[in-house]
Amino acid sequence: MTKTRDKSALHRPIGIGSRAIHAGKGPYDNALATGPTVTPLHMGSMFEFDTVKDYMDCITGGSPYPMYTRGTSSNPTIRLLQSRLAAIYEAESALVTGSGMGAISTAFFQFLQPGDHVLFNRAFYMTSNLMSQTIEPKMGVRWDMVAGVDVEDFEALVSDRTKLIYLEIFSNPQLDVIDLEGITQMAHDRGIMVWVDDTVATPVNLRTFRYGVDVVTCSLTKYLSGHGDSVGGAIIGSSKLVNTIRLGCYAKVGTAISPFNAWLTLQGLKTLPLRVAQHNKNAQALAEYLEDHPKVEWVRYPGLKSHPQHERACTMMSGFGGMIGFALNGGDQAATIMADNMRFLGIGTSFGQPETLCETGLMIFYDHSFEERALHGVPDGFVRLSVGLEDTDDLIADMAQALDQVPEDLHGVREGMPPRRVKGTFRPRSVDLE
Ligand SMILES: Cc1ncc(COP(=O)(O)O)c(C=O)c1O
Repeated sequence: MTKTRDKSALHRPIGIGSRAIHAGKGPYDNALATGPTVTPLHMGSMFEFDTVKDYMDCITGGSPYPMYTRGTSSNPTIRLLQSRLAAIYEAESALVTGSGMGAISTAFFQFLQPGDHVLFNRAFYMTSNLMSQTIEPKMGVRWDMVAGVDVEDFEALVSDRTKLIYLEIFSNPQLDVIDLEGITQMAHDRGIMVWVDDTVATPVNLRTFRYGVDVVTCSLTKYLSGHGDSVGGAIIGSSKLVNTIRLGCYAKVGTAISPFNAWLTLQGLKTLPLRVAQHNKNAQALAEYLEDHPKVEWVRYPGLKSHPQHERACTMMSGFGGMIGFALNGGDQAATIMADNMRFLGIGTSFGQPETLCETGLMIFYDHSFEERALHGVPDGFVRLSVGLEDTDDLIADMAQALDQVPEDLHGVREGMPPRRVKGTFRPRSVDLE
């Protein structure tokens, strides 16, 4: 289906209004002898057909051409991103969405039914908010968050209603490293699906599909696009599974990405391995620096020997990522003073962009009680550092001078500290976000 119609052949001169719409040729017409190295950005939300038959072939799935950006046929720039992501992940197929949360909720809507049960690892509280505020009350899906990281912790809590196990690795912001292989095997023996959110680990550090997982959902907003300039998400897996979502909920829920954000992500992806290597290097150096600092109570970074799952991380990962969690002896007050005194490092949410950003536990869990924060592994004095791409020495120098400003005599609150090894489940409170 190449475009062959000559729009000027209307048997009479066409008006200026029509010319303004139809005249001229696009920059990527067939006459070009060479192609651009940068992917063309197709902003078109709708694509025209030559014939009714072409249209019908497209709508019934018999033709590979784009038709509508929100629809199953998508848009050429977005489709290129989808195939590139599938290749990066060594997977058969990918579907791109308007945000990471869009990917997670589209996949949940597709596969979950009333009465199903889901197990999560202790992680990102946006997902628990999605479950507690939307999926559970509106769809009647039960869920539990597993505090442990080993196969026995999950095995003890599966039931015959458990439809899927959803695992975030590394968990944000606790940086737990779950036993992906063991949990996947146990789940598959019971016919339970395994989904992984590898946004924090990235496909550079972790080859998630080598562990047999069924689906990856991730945020493109972070390391994959990498420049803090676009929002997006992806669902990646077998063609059968991805097509089930594409032809099922995807177009109805309406979570298409903007072509411009897809284009920015394609540009960002080109440097992903280089950027991740620098994030890994900077975070390792900062984590080691913080671990030796007298005002720091503990540091959580999978690349440190002190991390409880360090050995597991070494066997699974080729790098330990750009996120660090640590706690200051002086509690939240100390964390606030440190953050307010940073010059080079910024205060802000999100991660995976060139700029180093810090968010304290008080900021992340601003709407949770102290005890709930502790249950999430985010006690008094907690700081999440999303380490960027700056020169390592500059990051350490700024952190050093900011910590110098923290008074020695602050002591924080010791109650509510999480035990080193947590077991069982917990149900984070439903939090009203608005
Ligand atoms: C691990 C993880 N997954 C998914 C998301 C959601 O991504 P987005 O902000 O693109 O919706 C986030 C956001 O912070 C995240 O940290």
